[in-house]
Amino acid sequence: MTIAEQEFRVRLQEWRPDLDSALRGLYGDEAPVVGERLLQIAHERHDERSNDLRARDRYRTIRPDWFQEAQRVGYAAYVDEFGGGLDGVRDRIGHLTELGVDVLHLLSLFAARVGDNDGGFAVRDYLRPDEAHGTPSDLDALIEALHGADINLCADFVLNHTSDDHGWAEEARAGSTYHQDLFLMFDHDVEPLAYEASLPEVFPQMAPGNFTWESTLAKWVWTTFREFQWDLNWANPDVMVEIADVALRLANLGVDILRLDAIAFTWKRLGTNCQNQPEAHLIAQALRAMTSIAAPATVLLAEAIVGPNELVGYLGRHDVERRECALAYHNQLMVQGWSMLATGETRLARVALSRLTEPPSSTTWFTYVRCHDDIGWAIDDADARHAGVSGVGHRAFLAAYFRGDFPGSTSRGVPFATNEGTNDERTNGMTASLAGVTAAIDAGDAVEIDIALARVAMLYAIAFGHGGIPMIYMGDEFGQGNDLAALDDPDLAADSRWVHRPSFNDDARVERSDPATVSGRMWSTLRTLIDARRSCPALHGAAPVGYIDVGADQVFCWRRRHPRFGELVGLANVGIDPVTIDLAAIGSLEPARQRVDLLDRTATGLDTLGPHQVRWLASPQTYPTVPAAPGVDVARTGRR
Ligand code: GLC
Ligand code: GLC
Repeated sequence: MTIAEQEFRVRLQEWRPDLDSALRGLYGDEAPVVGERLLQIAHERHDERSNDLRARDRYRTIRPDWFQEAQRVGYAAYVDEFGGGLDGVRDRIGHLTELGVDVLHLLSLFAARVGDNDGGFAVRDYLRPDEAHGTPSDLDALIEALHGADINLCADFVLNHTSDDHGWAEEARAGSTYHQDLFLMFDHDVEPLAYEASLPEVFPQMAPGNFTWESTLAKWVWTTFREFQWDLNWANPDVMVEIADVALRLANLGVDILRLDAIAFTWKRLGTNCQNQPEAHLIAQALRAMTSIAAPATVLLAEAIVGPNELVGYLGRHDVERRECALAYHNQLMVQGWSMLATGETRLARVALSRLTEPPSSTTWFTYVRCHDDIGWAIDDADARHAGVSGVGHRAFLAAYFRGDFPGSTSRGVPFATNEGTNDERTNGMTASLAGVTAAIDAGDAVEIDIALARVAMLYAIAFGHGGIPMIYMGDEFGQGNDLAALDDPDLAADSRWVHRPSFNDDARVERSDPATVSGRMWSTLRTLIDARRSCPALHGAAPVGYIDVGADQVFCWRRRHPRFGELVGLANVGIDPVTIDLAAIGSLEPARQRVDLLDRTATGLDTLGPHQVRWLASPQTYPTVPAAPGVDVARTGRR
């Protein structure tokens, strides 16, 4: 037996119980048969795995916390906007390494629907790149180059739906019942109407309702998102088998992080909102077991942009801990960051984040300020009540503030998915435009530009210092503002998320080394954060985080304590007035005077914070850097 085969068997032994228990919950009596089919696939895909990827498997089996390390810094970009295509992205690797990024989320990587395709999220082929972007061998070359530059690839795995021109949909239309059963189709509107009674709408204006009449088949098709995105029928075990196979093939391409798009929506249950059903977690757990058996170098990221009470479940926190996704977007921290920026107060954030259950110590977050989607103001009513504010009122305030409709707001957000029925409104816009940088530039007001840039720096310093992989959204490294031309483009105007999906700005890149420019200032802010983060092992994702009341409502304070790597206390002054706090109130293990501010190492008077200033207080001891293990090709396997 080869070593690889032995390793496979040990992993199978380790993970089979997880797989079986997830499948039992999903498919009952059919589970054993589904399990056998899945294991055959696991074996086949494992046999096809390259030696390079097997080396990656070994490395990460020894170092399973690779994605939790303080070294990790992420960047998210569209293939076409960033590089024009796969080769163009390869040419931009130097940009990423210069910035200091080692995780790259490439949006719209795989072939999407011809015509409108929801920014690449209506996938026509799960495994081939879009012809316009390059060939499969261009993709291989790109992934090899990324791994060679020590950059981990995160790719979208759109498992709630396919596009209506995916091969499976074409077969379904041509009459194949096997393929029709992969989707959710109804002959009459009775069932759709029964579901609609409790279903919300994700895009109430662009795509009202959750079902679309498919005239070729004379059937209603479940379409949660757009009318051309056909929801998969996860209650059918064939969907599990097909999708698990795709997962392992993506892993064999060299994808390091599989982003489970819209995972919360996968399981439907009559009488519910069909989100966050227990089975959605079982699906993620089954996929986790599959990748852990056949391709342990690959981990799962939950894209579950849900309320705080539902969030931590995707990291496996249930009545008992389950092995589920390794990573999840921390949308609650993101929302609370913007909320603190708007109010200048921290009570709600502290209350809401403290009420969040601690994730399992083997997992961590994707922390971010902006992403390619809109911001949903996920303020929980109970959290708001505990903080003494009204949930509905605060959500309405945030929508108005970031739309620029509130006295004193310099925000240039664009309202999205306004739903008069539910009083809900989400917000689009680039970081710089939401935070007031764009308005200040337009006004030519140098003082306001300083303030607005300090606000952006504050949000990024929270995302970088909180713990989790901080994600930079393309354009933010230059302080790029909204792309208003998108609103005039007839193909894009209906979906105002396009205002925050601009093209890479080469002129701004040239300006990055000029400290007199917005680009130069944002670049140096991020460079400082990246270096500080890498010097601070306490930012390892396993450390629990607590949120502390320091007796000044304008100061957001968090503390991470890692049993081996020490402690980090973050302090962010979200207000515009300087503030002095009592560091002793933090109740730290080490006397405050022995600390150093990692964001400004020569600073003294650490108890005072200027407007929007952030400090990361750590013990001044220096940590030994870990040398590469002899004989290990670090470039291929990741680094400490
Ligand atoms: C995800 C994507 C979003 C897309 C939706 C449907 O949430 O981030 O852009 O519209 O899923 O695939
Ligand atoms: C909602 C969904 C998310 C989706 C987004 C699209 O926030 O939860 O999955 O991407 O809408 O705008």
